[in-house]
Amino acid sequence: MSVTVHDLRAWKAAGRRFAMLTAYDFPTARILDRAEIPVLLVGDSVGRNVLGYANELPVTMEEMLHHVRAVSRGVTNALVVGDMPFMSFQASTEEGVRNAGRLLKEGGAHAVKIEGPQLDLVHRLVEIGIPVMAHVGLTPQSVNGIGGYRVQGRGEAASLILDQAQALEKAGAFSIVLEAMPAELAAEITRTLQIPTIGIGAGPHCDAQVLVIHDLLGITDRPPKFAKAYADLRAETERAARAFAREVAEGTFPDEEHSYH
Ligand code: KIV
Repeated sequence: MSVTVHDLRAWKAAGRRFAMLTAYDFPTARILDRAEIPVLLVGDSVGRNVLGYANELPVTMEEMLHHVRAVSRGVTNALVVGDMPFMSFQASTEEGVRNAGRLLKEGGAHAVKIEGPQLDLVHRLVEIGIPVMAHVGLTPQSVNGIGGYRVQGRGEAASLILDQAQALEKAGAFSIVLEAMPAELAAEITRTLQIPTIGIGAGPHCDAQVLVIHDLLGITDRPPKFAKAYADLRAETERAARAFAREVAEGTFPDEEHSYH
């Protein structure tokens, strides 16, 4: 049965932890769906991980739609969340509503993710039936304002993030990503909120954890400290490419098994 935003809330109430992964393409989405990952995020991290941008800022709505469509086509059970890219919602609530609608209507997403305390927009989207995953702490679209990819919410800044998380829950968000903050702060937010918290670099006490798929697979060149690689696909891909090139040079590929007559 397909996962819904209500399931995630029920899982939190039942104390059941869950995993979320990013996905950017059809075959990966199919594999992750088969692996019973309940939530796939088509993150604007597609910019750094797939498109070769230096950060998330250049990612456009058209690029997001392209990748959200591919992931949606690969999924049978998982909840697909489409990320709202930089400047798709910051200028006005109306523009945010229109662009969030596009991710569902044209992309096939089931929900959207929005960075920062966009309370009016979250409220309006929930009112019209578009579920919203919130995102606080390190919000990469604000990398220039923050001055780099730094841990947020240390010392007195903790209460600001706690307030934002509570306000976003009140505005109707169905879950919230907590990125790069002290584990103690994430634990307090998790205790305080009824909606599930999804941590990335936020310690072990969140209701769920998310990783970027390229970090999980060991493809990323310089992964962040909080990312754990569960495979080494960079080395494996290089090994396979070298083996292919060697067999072509030697004339041992294609052999009988891979030829037609
Ligand atoms: O864009 C993204 O992949 C994200 C996750 C890291 C939460 O926002």
